Amino acid sequence: MTGAGGGIGQAVAVAFADAGARVMMVDADRGSVERVGRQLRGSGHVVVAADLRAIGAHQELVARARRELGSLRVLAHLAAVLRRRDRLTDVSEADWDLQVDTNLKASFFLCRTVAEAMVAQGTGGRIITFSSQGWWTGGFGGSVVYNATKGAIVTLTRGLARAYGPHGITVNSVAPGQVRTPMLLTDLRPDVLAAMTEATPLGRVAEPEELAGLVVFLASDWASFITGATVNATGGFLMY
Ligand SMILES: NC(=O)c1ccc[n+]([C@@H]2O[C@H](COP(=O)([O-])OP(=O)(O)OC[C@H]3O[C@@H](n4cnc5c(N)ncnc54)[C@H](O)[C@@H]3O)[C@@H](O)[C@H]2O)c1
Repeated sequence: MTGAGGGIGQAVAVAFADAGARVMMVDADRGSVERVGRQLRGSGHVVVAADLRAIGAHQELVARARRELGSLRVLAHLAAVLRRRDRLTDVSEADWDLQVDTNLKASFFLCRTVAEAMVAQGTGGRIITFSSQGWWTGGFGGSVVYNATKGAIVTLTRGLARAYGPHGITVNSVAPGQVRTPMLLTDLRPDVLAAMTEATPLGRVAEPEELAGLVVFLASDWASFITGATVNATGGFLMY
């Protein structure tokens, strides 16, 4: 899994380990992913500090997962970045490149590399990407570019589901609303957060653990006939 050092990623890693999985945790932030690795129940987990924008390193990452975990059954791909710019005129080319390279370009190449390894294994598999409520709304609080990448993730997920379905590989996306993590809270104006919370029937932001069960479900045999789906987990902020 990727983004394992982040708010939701940490909860997902713990949930996978609690479900009995051996987990390879990948994140660009070595300190946080090592901290998460120390919290997991069970043994055989692997911690890797890597920047997924380095597309050329994906093959070795996947080979290492197969080697050290035994086989590769699931990719939960959460790593992403958000650069809020309240005024669109403040969005720089560097902002664009960072978000598109991390959230979209790396996602395509990583998912493809993992899916091809699953095809070679002949075992089928599960790929779970992360979108956002912003794929539908365009986002709030200066996040247009980020949300354009999250719209692309929905399309990518559908395309990958078509391509790899015949190999028994499902590809689904999780689309959270507001989740209490550094990504949500960094540079977010309090009035924007208050307005989003007010527009959420459950009346609060989610805790990271509330997304983790959905990821484990999509990774499980219980979700064997679900593919190409974008699962809305927004506390009712969106209803579709
Ligand atoms: N928090 C929310 O409210 C929210 C809402 C909608 C969608 N999401 C999505 O959920 C997922 C997890 O978000 P989060 O809230 O836990 O964010 P987070 O910022 O807490 O975690 C993201 C993690 O990704 C890692 N990362 C970033 N760039 C990387 C790279 N190039 N290579 C490797 N790792 C990299 C970061 O180091 C970080 O640990 C993301 O895909 C995000 O877009 C979050």
